[in-house]
Amino acid sequence: MRPFFFLTGALLALPGTIFGASGRGHCRCTPEKPCWPSTTKWRALNDSIDGNLLSLKPVGYVCHNPTYDEEACSNLMKMNDNSLWKSGEPGAVLSPNWEIWPERNESCFAESPRNAPCGQGRIPIYSTIVRTPFHIQRAVRFADKHNLRLVIRNTGHDYLGRSAAPESLQIFTHHMKDMDFTDDFVPDGKKDGKGVGEAVTIGAGVQLAELYRAANKLGKTQVIGLAVSVGAAGGYIQGGGHSPLGPWKGSSIDHVLEYKLVTAKGKLVTANEYQNQDLFWALRGGGGGTFGVVYSVTLRTFKDPPTVFSALNITTGGTAGESYWNAVEKFHSYLPSISDAGGSGYYYIIPDLDFEGQKVSVVAGIFYFVGRDDKESVDKVFEPILSDIESLPGVYVPYDSFQAPSSFATFQLDGEAADEAAGGADPSILGSRLYSEKLLRSKNGPGRLAKAISQLDYSDGTIAIGHLVAGGQVSKNRHVDAALNPSWRDALTHIAVSRKWTLSSGPAGLRQVQKKVTNEDVPILAAVEPHMGAYVNEADVNEPQFQRTFWGSNYPRLLRIKRKWDPEGLFFVKSGVGSEGWDEQGLCRR
Ligand SMILES: Cc1cc2nc3c(=O)[nH]c(=O)nc-3n(C[C@H](O)[C@H](O)[C@H](O)COP(=O)(O)OP(=O)(O)OC[C@H]3O[C@@H](n4cnc5c(N)ncnc54)[C@H](O)[C@@H]3O)c2cc1C
Ligand SMILES: *[C@@H]1O[C@H](CO)[C@@H](O)[C@H](O)[C@H]1NC(C)=O
Ligand SMILES: *[C@@H]1O[C@H](CO)[C@@H](O)[C@H](O)[C@H]1NC(C)=O
Ligand SMILES: *[C@@H]1O[C@H](CO)[C@@H](O)[C@H](O)[C@H]1NC(C)=O
Repeated sequence: MRPFFFLTGALLALPGTIFGASGRGHCRCTPEKPCWPSTTKWRALNDSIDGNLLSLKPVGYVCHNPTYDEEACSNLMKMNDNSLWKSGEPGAVLSPNWEIWPERNESCFAESPRNAPCGQGRIPIYSTIVRTPFHIQRAVRFADKHNLRLVIRNTGHDYLGRSAAPESLQIFTHHMKDMDFTDDFVPDGKKDGKGVGEAVTIGAGVQLAELYRAANKLGKTQVIGLAVSVGAAGGYIQGGGHSPLGPWKGSSIDHVLEYKLVTAKGKLVTANEYQNQDLFWALRGGGGGTFGVVYSVTLRTFKDPPTVFSALNITTGGTAGESYWNAVEKFHSYLPSISDAGGSGYYYIIPDLDFEGQKVSVVAGIFYFVGRDDKESVDKVFEPILSDIESLPGVYVPYDSFQAPSSFATFQLDGEAADEAAGGADPSILGSRLYSEKLLRSKNGPGRLAKAISQLDYSDGTIAIGHLVAGGQVSKNRHVDAALNPSWRDALTHIAVSRKWTLSSGPAGLRQVQKKVTNEDVPILAAVEPHMGAYVNEADVNEPQFQRTFWGSNYPRLLRIKRKWDPEGLFFVKSGVGSEGWDEQGLCRR
């Protein structure tokens, strides 16, 4: 069989691809094939990682025959929309749509009938619960040796489904929780041995709220995203993570000082400004799950400064009409002035909302002015905005603000209440685009953007979420040479449409929602500024030209680095760098 596969591979090879050279064949090794490792081999892997190998079942298996367990199932139902709990379950991912293997109609939802079979779907078959870099090395070498589909799974929060795959071996990084703060970090390999300032080194499994809370105890902060259970060191930062602190200090990747990782060959390497610079470049925006398994990241820390928080709700009665969309346009035309005042934040465009039995259409915005301690002058920035938008017929704009001694105090990340409100477990299919500061400052730009947003179909409860997380220092740091989509440096806002999928509509329903996003929503959003592209971590996984959309002019360099460090394609994520040679699930070469 091997020579035959080799030949097919060689014939299908695109010019410039190197596969075939290994003689590995066309597909990865899956359980039904003779190449699948024997029980003895799995046992040896288990022994080599101190007994941390787990045979994985989807969490929903306790709700189905013959393994139905009434108490366990009802407990599961209670936890199922808790994103913090889910982040620690290797047999789940946050968005249940990514548990389905559509090609085989396999899934195992707690909510589906007890007599429906529990299919493994895209939940890996084995998990290595890694606790040390050495464990990661063993898992990577095992997967490489046996030609297995390997998945790196941190929190499982990925909107693109990149932290799960059918018939795979999982590396579960959740338990690597070290956090080490220092006043003067010395990068590995820096010849003069001099420090580069204060920093924190975190293990691969550290989550955002854990890091914020630990830093807050020292009066510090760092540029990371705003969520409780998202990971700080995995897909978030490797994809170029955005942050409410971005406009204040720059993009999160501008402050990465060092990565430590396990390569596809199972070697431990350090990537920073002094060694393996190509990997260091790629891991700052090139995407998770692609270049290696990162086991620690060092980030700059800062003194956490006073912060002004403000919020507004643009409200019109009834379904979204002319006044509402005019308000959406005016609101966008003021984003540059909010940004000029140092603002960052988020806004939720919610037309046709059912509120206490009535229809209302709302834009709910929250803003952070990090480093400001002058609430009155921030309020003054909003005065003309509020009065201009309220001059539209039927539009009301309640506004509120307060000042706090730290940014942390405005983020509401403290304590159990934050954990419970962590959210994000609704199955959402995203499509998105970045929009430039230039567009928003132009005469017709805000109108064209509002028009596009108004053309999306909201009849199924869909919303659009704006992220004012660019501009300011993110733009000023355009000299930072990293893989991050260059459009981030020109952008002011990132807008994502979030479509719901209901479990009961099954794989066919899912396909329908995905098609709507890819064929209707994204083209509408993209037409406003075709060259801008999108943020890889909050986007449509079926982007037809993902290379240009997610990485722009950086793609060719990224592909060269991928081929150098992972010539066999051990690490695969859909729509990731180098993924074009593989099928949908990364199981067979095209
Ligand atoms: C509620 C919520 C809030 C969010 N808020 C923000 C935000 O404020 N800013 C923002 O930019 N994004 C935000 N995101 C998006 C977030 O960046 C992505 O979901 C991201 O993929 C999460 O990374 P993870 O490591 O936690 O998740 P996972 O799903 O576990 O991993 C994501 C990807 O990274 C890979 N990966 C994970 N760990 C490693 C590792 N150690 N080495 C190599 N590859 C790895 C995985 O293989 C996968 O491809 C949010 C998402 C949610 C659900
Ligand atoms: C791995 O070893 C541990 C400890 O001996 C054991 O509990 C576990 O079941 C083993 N895993 C598998 C998949 O056999
Ligand atoms: C898919 O599986 C579900 C539940 O297991 C079943 O109800 C449904 O009929 C199946 N659909 C197809 C197209 O086979
Ligand atoms: C906006 O509406 C939300 C939801 O009703 C509410 O919690 C919030 O306090 C409102 N903000 C302002 C400024 O009115």
